[in-house]
Amino acid sequence: MTEILVSEKLIHLRNDRISYAIGLLEGGIPAHLYFGKRVEKLNPSSLLRAAWLPGDGSFSMQNCTLDHTPQEYPAFGLGEMREGALIVRRENGTRTADLRFVSAGVMDGKPELAGLPATFGEACKTLKLRLRDELLNLDVVLLYTIFDDCDAIARSVLFENNGAEELNLERCYSLCLDLPDSRYDLITLSGAWAREREIVRRPLVMGQQGVGSIRGASSLQTSPFMALLRPETTEEQGEVIAAALVYSGNFTAQAYVDPNRYTRMMMGINDTGFQWTLCAGATFQTPEAVLVYSAAGLDGMSSQFHRLCADHLVRGRYAHAPRPILLNNWEATYFDFDEEKLLSIARTAAKVGVELFVLDDGWFGHRDSDNSSLGDWFVDKRKLPGGLTSLAEKVHSLGLKFGLWFEPEMISPDSELFRAHPDWCIHVPGRTHIEGRNQLILDLSRPDVCEYIYNALADNLSSSGIDYVKWDMNRNFTNVGSALLPPERQKELPHRYMLGLYGILERLIHDFPHVLFESCSSGGGRFDMGMLHYMPQTWTSDDTDAVCRCRIQYSTSLVFPPFAMGSHVSAVPNHQTGRVAPITTRGNVAMSGCFGYELDLNRLPEEDLKEVEKQIQRVKEYRQTLLYGEFHRLLSPYEGNDTAWITVAPDKNEAILMLARALALPGTYPPLVRLRGLDPAKTYRILETGETYGGDELMNIGLCIPLPWGDAASVSYTLKAE
Ligand code: DGJ
Repeated sequence: MTEILVSEKLIHLRNDRISYAIGLLEGGIPAHLYFGKRVEKLNPSSLLRAAWLPGDGSFSMQNCTLDHTPQEYPAFGLGEMREGALIVRRENGTRTADLRFVSAGVMDGKPELAGLPATFGEACKTLKLRLRDELLNLDVVLLYTIFDDCDAIARSVLFENNGAEELNLERCYSLCLDLPDSRYDLITLSGAWAREREIVRRPLVMGQQGVGSIRGASSLQTSPFMALLRPETTEEQGEVIAAALVYSGNFTAQAYVDPNRYTRMMMGINDTGFQWTLCAGATFQTPEAVLVYSAAGLDGMSSQFHRLCADHLVRGRYAHAPRPILLNNWEATYFDFDEEKLLSIARTAAKVGVELFVLDDGWFGHRDSDNSSLGDWFVDKRKLPGGLTSLAEKVHSLGLKFGLWFEPEMISPDSELFRAHPDWCIHVPGRTHIEGRNQLILDLSRPDVCEYIYNALADNLSSSGIDYVKWDMNRNFTNVGSALLPPERQKELPHRYMLGLYGILERLIHDFPHVLFESCSSGGGRFDMGMLHYMPQTWTSDDTDAVCRCRIQYSTSLVFPPFAMGSHVSAVPNHQTGRVAPITTRGNVAMSGCFGYELDLNRLPEEDLKEVEKQIQRVKEYRQTLLYGEFHRLLSPYEGNDTAWITVAPDKNEAILMLARALALPGTYPPLVRLRGLDPAKTYRILETGETYGGDELMNIGLCIPLPWGDAASVSYTLKAE
């Protein structure tokens, strides 16, 4: 049962499996006591004594420093010598805050966070812990939601300036978690374009460590995610405490180990280039961070994140629905297409069973390359003389849905929009524009710009028979400045940009509920829980090479479930790596996500086209399990030559197992792969081999899986309970 127990000195949040405890020190400072496995009785005195407070555990502000005290929301300036979660500047320039307990309210369910993406749910309870700095007249409300069905706590902070003085938030993180030791490894995800989210695991060391982005987006280079796990923790066992930010802009995710070997974990908006002016009477809501606890290794952590994404984050018609198998023309034609070329691909796509045809970049303005027209969202009649409506009708008449690419946040210097509104881009007056991919970024902190973007999209969506939108974003912030914001609010731009973007998305998904949105940012440059709240799938990476995709999808699955990952079969030699992987492997890897093709089917050899038809039939038959089953990683491409994973239907009657090998190595034996997630008492038939095994046998002993000859070999087995 989920409950939040509030007593004079102790607040205890718990569900059937986890507990989170807060102690109230003398004077009302909220101390962090515990986050982990559920406990029945919680006597805080031992926790407070255990070196967390000096001497006998008593606390007095006169001669005490908070340097050793585990806190829920440490602020700069109150004897706290570590980096804290909050820095507030007053009009007189001083920066100290002293937050004391006012009240603890408990509500059923969870409040929405104004203007921000957030988890939601009815089967949960929320604690509102109100703190106050009397001198600043600042109320700080710490929000904690605990879910019935997830071992997760969602946290965020609301600031209310109740005084007459103007305050400035120079730092206001979403999460601080103080842990009583530092015997942890830290996992973060770091990468690059076409090599997103590589797993980086290292032991915690004394001092500050972590990742962050000041690029204006969560980024290709890293992700708003961190996990602390015991050194002995593996995929299958051991403790993990992990956090992810439900936000898509600049962030920080830090672990700090102090000289006493306590660990402080913090996450929130990156304070580099950030500040928020809080006028008298104003409020500020931070993004939400979700904390997950697992006593069952990384597999347990991922299953909590996956459940959160599935049941508490993604919205709309497609949240739990089969995703259409798509064909995207990008790698098939790039900018070089006309209506007939597109339709010839669409006709073949329809014949082999594809369900959605997506027209990517190049359909608008006069965009024959990436150096023009972003912002001019009207059709290029040279390429599509009948316009979008006619193309959409023709695609629909083939029995396919029609999808379209936009990059709404951008503006090309060579565009009608830029000529009309040169001040609509993010820029610094007097500085030469710094272009990325020949484009500039629209200033989404401006309401007029947001209105333009909404209308441009809404006009197209209302008139052109569009069933799907690929929402791209292909560069990061430079020369950060807004023509509209006053000098003292320029540092608000990156966050105001995110609020502007979220506002547009909220309106669009509300007004066009039938449209399936897929988020993209040069591939997976904004693959985060924020975007997932609006768009149920994200293009995982521009790297469609099956061997690379094993790594990328494997690591992405640490946080995100298969239904969140766009994954396509593309042509060989692969356009990113030059590798020639068999069509079977390209299909086997791609079908562990939102499946599709990104090639000219008319150029495929006959036997490959037959294979495509078979793949599509198989995905249609098993996509509910492939997308929404329980996903388990079995062999890591970060530790060897092989990748394996399995997706198991919730009733455990069906599973799809995938094994891929990067390089053929002579003298190696087929791997014995121990499966997970099956029912030990059931007997499973492998449809492809006809063999039957017990669930316990497959999980305890494993399955020896012979692979075909050659590099990038793979098999995908269908397991059915008998
Ligand atoms: C980057 C995306 O990741 C690609 O899939 C493609 O849509 C291009 N942009 C188009 O410019």
